[in-house]
Amino acid sequence: MERTLVLIKPDGVERGLIGRIITVFENKGLRIADMKMCKPSKAEAEEHYKEHKGKFFFQELIDYLTEDRIVAMILEGENAIELIRKVNGDKDPLKAEGASIRGKYAIDRTRNLVHASENTENVEREISIWFDCK
Ligand code: CDP
Ligand code: MG
Repeated sequence: MERTLVLIKPDGVERGLIGRIITVFENKGLRIADMKMCKPSKAEAEEHYKEHKGKFFFQELIDYLTEDRIVAMILEGENAIELIRKVNGDKDPLKAEGASIRGKYAIDRTRNLVHASENTENVEREISIWFDCK
């Protein structure tokens, strides 16, 4: 069994999509091992997205992630890391499959509702950020 870290980003909370997003994961057969809400600090957001530091969209991304509360979840299932990135869909709304969460609910490349870890190293690093946050 593999575990991964998922965030419902501030637009998902603001738009009232928490339930619909969680339902997609539950219907897929993924197990919610842990879940919480918190409001990211600038430091937490910058640590989470440190691989993107220096890119043209970094400041906008940090402002977005820190604007409101998020939902952080640890999800478990077979091949959960790869599977959930598929379920979330591509960050580019023009590439996201129609049935994916981003395909169904997002039209903006920055405000794209969800995050999921990309590899096992990031899973552990990101869990330690978000399961310590207030
Ligand atoms: O979220 P994902 O792993 O699919 O994409 P990423 O390439 O790791 O980018 C992280 C986040 O940065 C995206 O989900 C977007 O919110 C944001 N982003 C952006 O605002 N503009 C871009 N050109 C690329 C990413
Ligand atoms: Mg990423």
